[in-house]
Amino acid sequence: MSTPRRVLVVVPTYNERENLELVLGRLRRAVPDADVLVVDDGSPDGTGEIADRLAAGDTQVQVLHRDEKLGLGAAYLAGFRWGLDRGYDALVEMDADGSHQPEQLPLLLTASESADLVLGSRWVPGGSVVNWPTRRRLLSRGGNTYVRLALGLGLRDATGGFRVFRRETLETLMTEIVASHGYCFQVDLAWRAANRGFHVVEVPIEFVEREFGTSKMSGAIVREALWRVTVWGAAHRLGQLRRIAGGRR
Ligand code: GDD
Ligand code: MN
Repeated sequence: MSTPRRVLVVVPTYNERENLELVLGRLRRAVPDADVLVVDDGSPDGTGEIADRLAAGDTQVQVLHRDEKLGLGAAYLAGFRWGLDRGYDALVEMDADGSHQPEQLPLLLTASESADLVLGSRWVPGGSVVNWPTRRRLLSRGGNTYVRLALGLGLRDATGGFRVFRRETLETLMTEIVASHGYCFQVDLAWRAANRGFHVVEVPIEFVEREFGTSKMSGAIVREALWRVTVWGAAHRLGQLRRIAGGRR
């Protein structure tokens, strides 16, 4: 590439006090040229203050504070908007709890030079999951199988959250209203990108279960994903039927 790309890593946080400094340190070492935006939803455990302290000591780290916990999807949309407004060429999603390893980000960034969206994938050959309880493995495998069947989406890991978007991809996707609040935001964007004909590539990653703090995954988040995917799937199948009936196949 002639001019170096400007990369922004968006890191959403909610109660990640034990994790943030560690993961940002690893990130800054692994990809020194990338800027970082922490999007904190008013974490009661003081994560926002830790982020401010880290930002004060590093011009490449910035913090976006939001007043309340409005969900992963809303946090990412705010972070993306921030990055697009500031002219970044590539926008990265990464969890703050160490499950996504910053040392693997260079591989994803390289792949993104010839793709519109790169998904870090646990469920392609070479991908793996370390220390995840059986319950979470089953949920992820089952969720991804459901997504493939309901939406006819040919991706192995549409629910993961270690990704690189090209600026142009997000600019297009964000002209539409993205209503997903919880983790189904991930499926939402992958599905929209595929539907729009964007080139989506999966790169194997090793996902390591967090050592500190707790997951924010909840029954409500799973239920939102289930009903939304079902509604999108039904609309998709109906559209296919209409096209067949209209003879425009
Ligand atoms: N700002 C903000 N607001 N951050 C949030 C919120 C929120 O409402 N909810 C979660 N986060 C942050 C967490 O602090 C963490 O940095 C990241 O989002 C992921 O949350 P976890 O709670 O650790 O997710 P997980 O490990 O259970 O889920 C993983 O797997 C999901 C399913 O594959 C993640 O990789 C998800 O992105 C993925 O969808
Ligand atoms: Mn996690």
